Amino acid sequence: MPNIVVVGTQWGDEGKGKVVDLLTARSDLVVRFQGGNNAGHTLVVDGKQFIFHIIPSGILYEDKKCLIGNGLVVDPGVLLDEIAKLKAAGISVGPERLSLSDKAHIIMPYHKAIDLAREAAKGKAKLGTTGRGIGPCYEDKVARIGVRAVDLTDPEVLEEKVRINLKEKNFFLEKFLGAEPLDAQPMLDSYLAMGEKLGPFITDVSVELDEALKNQKNILFEGAQGTHLDIDHGTFPYVTSSNPVAGSACAGAGIGPKQLHHVVGIVKAYTTRVGAGPFVTELEDETGDYIQERGKEFGATTGRRRRCGWLDLVVVGDSVRLNGLDSLAITKLDILTGLKSLKICVGYEIDGKKVRQRPTSLKRMAAAIPVYEEMPGWQDDISGAKEIGQLPEAARAYINAIETITGVPVSIVSVGPGRNETIIVKYPS
Ligand code: GDP
Ligand code: IMO
Ligand code: MG
Repeated sequence: MPNIVVVGTQWGDEGKGKVVDLLTARSDLVVRFQGGNNAGHTLVVDGKQFIFHIIPSGILYEDKKCLIGNGLVVDPGVLLDEIAKLKAAGISVGPERLSLSDKAHIIMPYHKAIDLAREAAKGKAKLGTTGRGIGPCYEDKVARIGVRAVDLTDPEVLEEKVRINLKEKNFFLEKFLGAEPLDAQPMLDSYLAMGEKLGPFITDVSVELDEALKNQKNILFEGAQGTHLDIDHGTFPYVTSSNPVAGSACAGAGIGPKQLHHVVGIVKAYTTRVGAGPFVTELEDETGDYIQERGKEFGATTGRRRRCGWLDLVVVGDSVRLNGLDSLAITKLDILTGLKSLKICVGYEIDGKKVRQRPTSLKRMAAAIPVYEEMPGWQDDISGAKEIGQLPEAARAYINAIETITGVPVSIVSVGPGRNETIIVKYPS
């Protein structure tokens, strides 16, 4: 079995959680390698819905190990809450089932305060972040002043870091952002208490993965967000602060590139975006509303209404290149049922010229006019389909068009939120 990486090819919420849950059946370990609790990954198993923000989406399989890599920014309160919720659902999660990298960075209360105050100060120009402190925490990592998981178990180090950082953070919060300053002591008390609870889970994830690899175990790498939210390759500055691309699985988990064997790109059958930023195929009409309502397109983290539009293969095509995709998993195909005709964006027209890559300049992107290929829709319910042959001809043609235009084979087609509402075309190998 290969080690598989799952990444989003659009702006997040493509259905990565569902596909990771599915692929976990044939894996031994599942590891997240970037992002934080800005992610919301939904699984529906036996009619029961679970939403995970930090814990890898493989956790429902009791014989699998889940790991939170060094590339994440972790809010310890949110992690403990997820562990507690799983326990309440009858799934006990101890250190034998879950590891937290000692090198992962910790989201502190001042990160959240800065995220929120900065967004408020920007007014209409805000990025539409999730407000979870993700950006400010990654900033501290790069500035080399961040608190890491290992520090939660060392009161002296934690206190020194928090007291030094708070001087700067409080100055910034009060004097620049006009927000309330924060007290060190209650913060230290609560983080040390959480550190005590998390202590048994904190380990060197890279070493654990290395041992697993030596024992011929299979690793599944779970990306968060999407390629076009990537800090380097996305629609900057309307992006997140990490690298959701497949290459970051190595740095964010602590393994070498030769250990990645197959990259699956998750493609929602249409496009959504939550938060601000350019969106060439956005539909601000009845069709957009139809997709939004049928697809229940509300953010799994913030509950915000997701913007909806036609499938943009310029965006997906860039993701093929940026991730080296081996196969595609098409999700939410069932949501398009009932539309008379469908449009796929195959290029952008900018200043009278056709382009096939998303331009870096936001001005050029704003000027882009989508070039569409129109295809017939289908009316039959497809959510019970178990094989490609059971799909209506128009749905098969839609999948074929995606394969032909991107040049990447489809391995999975998802026709409903449930684990079983899936067509495996060819298991990623
Ligand atoms: P993620 O962040 O990429 O894991 O995706 P989210 O969980 O944020 O959003 C995907 C939503 O679509 C979730 O509510 C899933 O339960 C749901 N979903 C996933 N695949 C399908 C599908 O094929 N059909 C339908 N109807 N819903 C799906
Ligand atoms: P999953 O893993 C969709 C978006 C936010 C905002 C931008 C920056 O569920 O696909 P941040 O809080 O990261 O600084 O916000 O990124 N964003 C997501 N959009 N799905 C996600 O995760 C996202 N995580 C962040 O809405 O536009
Ligand atoms: Mg999501």
